[in-house]
Amino acid sequence: MEFLPLFFNLNGSRVLLVGGGEKAARKTELLLKTHAQIVLCAEILAPALQQLMAANAQISHVQTYSPDLLEASDLVVAATDDAEKDAAIAAQARLRHLPVNVVNDAEASSFIFPSIIDRSPVIAAVSSSGQMPVLTRLLRNLLESTIPPAYGRLAELAAEINPLAKKRFPEVNQRRKFWERHLEGRFAELVFSGKEVEARQLIEDSVKDEEYSNEGEVYLVGAGPGDPDLLTFKALRLMRQADIVLYDRLVSPAILSLVRADAEKVDVGKERANHTLPQQDINELLVTLAKQGRRVLRLKGGDPFIFGRGGEEIDRLADAGVPFQVVPGITAASGCAAYAGIPLTHRDFSQSVRFITGHLKDNTCDLAWQDFVQNRQTLVFYMGLVGLPVIASQLVQHGMSPEMPVALVSRGTTPGQKVITGTLENIVDTIKGQDIKAPTLVIIGEVVKLREKLQWR
Ligand SMILES: C[S@@+](CC[C@H](N)C(=O)[O-])C[C@H]1O[C@@H](n2cnc3c(N)ncnc32)[C@H](O)[C@@H]1O
Repeated sequence: MEFLPLFFNLNGSRVLLVGGGEKAARKTELLLKTHAQIVLCAEILAPALQQLMAANAQISHVQTYSPDLLEASDLVVAATDDAEKDAAIAAQARLRHLPVNVVNDAEASSFIFPSIIDRSPVIAAVSSSGQMPVLTRLLRNLLESTIPPAYGRLAELAAEINPLAKKRFPEVNQRRKFWERHLEGRFAELVFSGKEVEARQLIEDSVKDEEYSNEGEVYLVGAGPGDPDLLTFKALRLMRQADIVLYDRLVSPAILSLVRADAEKVDVGKERANHTLPQQDINELLVTLAKQGRRVLRLKGGDPFIFGRGGEEIDRLADAGVPFQVVPGITAASGCAAYAGIPLTHRDFSQSVRFITGHLKDNTCDLAWQDFVQNRQTLVFYMGLVGLPVIASQLVQHGMSPEMPVALVSRGTTPGQKVITGTLENIVDTIKGQDIKAPTLVIIGEVVKLREKLQWR
């Protein structure tokens, strides 16, 4: 981040604005929204500036610039329309450790003016670090249209009621729950539609009548197979409001970057045979954190209930009386098959699909092989790469055709997706020596043949 967004309190500050033209007029208009004293410094003031001066006692005027003027200033804006002069003013300001902006020159500035969406007291600022003002304006327009004009009023009313809410709900978590409910609920709607009397009544009644516990909650969320676009709206919403996230190795960095920026992030990884934190410890940690009143996001690859041990986690939460929500995710089978162009079922080739764990204990697989050898069925093996030789040979031994098509999908749905196809007979030799990155999924069935025509990425 080249520029850190900060909000300056300019109450009682003196801003030195050097320049008398159009640029200076625009910055003066903006600065007039604050309570700063504005010292305009220019020999000649454009008519717009003269009008602003006549109408606002906040502005004073000096004709000649001298570095001495900096001594009594808190903030400096150089807008002379003369690059050399502006650079000199900026250098002199920096010498005195004063924040300085050279209008339309981010490089020469120590601070820049963002595009502003003003719903005071709520203010949103957008910036492209001075690089693409057009893009910034487009973004601002987008925000302007999505943040209702009455947002400021909503903030003011809520701030008025907040002392009552603080008394009634002394714990932070109670208050958070109260406001989360009402700032997105009917109270907000009433304010947005101008019905402030009703809004006030409703929120005052709610403060009196409602009850909120100080307890935290756990969100068990499926993050899908890797592509962040495959997240559900609900997953994203909960990711944005959690205080702490416990995530697995399978959750991609792109997805993790969507979690609330200031949420604590704990890697409880789950590499094959190298569990960073034992499952039981994860279960206990979820309980402990929720009991501390935190909103805990348990973020898992794919779907939490498909080979994800999500059931065990909520079982422990239920025992401990901790509230939880479960958000399904797109499981690897669906994601990988879709992105590999392999329909898991198909009218002509497969009427059922089985999700199977290929995770072997002691190199043996105690599976119902006979059941898997069925016509018109697709088999999907999770965690099946290491066990692939056993899987392929067992299926053939139990009567499946050695010619049965097989696809191995590595890092499905991500930019690094790789798909290797073969048959039960040759897949093990085909992948020998190839650099195959985890995670991988094995799809077996006639439907794999369709990829030849249907692959799309
Ligand atoms: C412990 S299981 C978790 C499955 C997850 N809960 C789901 O619903 O997809 C891990 C296995 O899922 C499969 N897997 C998950 N994401 C994958 C991806 N992006 N590409 C290929 N396989 C994936 C692999 O077989 C991996 O070994």
